[in-house]
Amino acid sequence: MRKKINISIVGTGLMGLQHIKAIKKSKKANLHSIVDISNNAKKLSKKYKIPLFSNVSELLNSNKLDAVIVATPNQLHEKHTVSFLKNKIPVLLEKPISDNIQSAKKIIVSANKNKTPLLIGYHRRHNSIVSIVKNIINKGKLGKVVSANVLCWLYKHKNYYKENWRVSKGGGPLGINLVHDIDMICYLLGSIKYVQAFTSNKTRKFKVEDTATISLIFNSGALCSLNLSDTIVAPWSYELTAGENPVYPITDQSAYMIGGTKGSLQFPNLKFWFYKKERSWWNKIFVHKNKNKKDDNTLVNQIDHFADVVVKKVKPKVNGNDGLISLKIFAAITKSAKTGKKVRV
Ligand SMILES: NC(=O)c1ccc[n+]([C@@H]2O[C@H](COP(=O)([O-])OP(=O)(O)OC[C@H]3O[C@@H](n4cnc5c(N)ncnc54)[C@H](O)[C@@H]3O)[C@@H](O)[C@H]2O)c1
Repeated sequence: MRKKINISIVGTGLMGLQHIKAIKKSKKANLHSIVDISNNAKKLSKKYKIPLFSNVSELLNSNKLDAVIVATPNQLHEKHTVSFLKNKIPVLLEKPISDNIQSAKKIIVSANKNKTPLLIGYHRRHNSIVSIVKNIINKGKLGKVVSANVLCWLYKHKNYYKENWRVSKGGGPLGINLVHDIDMICYLLGSIKYVQAFTSNKTRKFKVEDTATISLIFNSGALCSLNLSDTIVAPWSYELTAGENPVYPITDQSAYMIGGTKGSLQFPNLKFWFYKKERSWWNKIFVHKNKNKKDDNTLVNQIDHFADVVVKKVKPKVNGNDGLISLKIFAAITKSAKTGKKVRV
């Protein structure tokens, strides 16, 4: 058995805490310390019996640190990540890579220049269900993929918006939730050529959007529509259907429908729809439900993968460039919503 790698977590809010729990479950990683400026971090440091540092420089002077997870607000990602990369410490950086493209590029340049691994925290890619879906598509079971439909409708409670950055630029549901769906749909269906988007803030009346509809055209010619809102009471989002995180009670619904000339696939509930005889809307359509269980170990899978990346066993599944691509699509969505025009990515 390989020695566990020592990971420190910078930013121990909502997401940092999930990483602490994942590291505790991992057989490949050990929780080295945490870095945060909040009072809550003191409680975490006591609870988990680990050192607390109030800034990154203090951490860099400590011993036996192998890697870090950066889970601070998006606006701080570049500052924190680059300070580790410069010291050749591998980083698992929470999504989105940054709050703007220039800064994302600086992070990627630093990782390349320092030859230090950078893994972006699009953790859904580490879900075994997603690997099954990718396999089904790649094997051609859907035929030619024609179109996809992605729903992300959920209702966020009042307290969630106490953090000011969540109602500032980049902090709305496009930046927090939809970037995951964008990364996923690019992973499954390939690169995107054009986007057209509409956004609305008419219900919550924050500066950031609460609702958006987006059309995508892939380089393959396939189309996709994404429909997002954080102010709709509904069960149809990846968060509420994948069962990855116990904070979201699971429903037996799906958030993705991917349609091809030979069949279509819903997931996360993995239902495959097809014809046994001639493909015709006048014939009975059949459904096959894949029996694979929902994967609630995605964050642990991500930590284990990160540990393999740190010891140079594998390359990051989601690299800085993947992070930049989804950020560019995000920027194109924002531009299209502002101008009302179709935007080339
Ligand atoms: N992968 C996911 O599904 C997912 C989910 C939620 C958030 N995120 C991402 O995780 C990151 C954090 O989001 P969150 O919801 O946990 O935010 P949060 O506000 O709950 O936590 C941020 C933490 O960073 C700390 N912090 C702020 N400035 C700091 C500094 N200078 N040094 C050290 N610590 C500092 C805060 O005190 C806080 O504890 C964001 O990038 C967000 O997009 C990812």
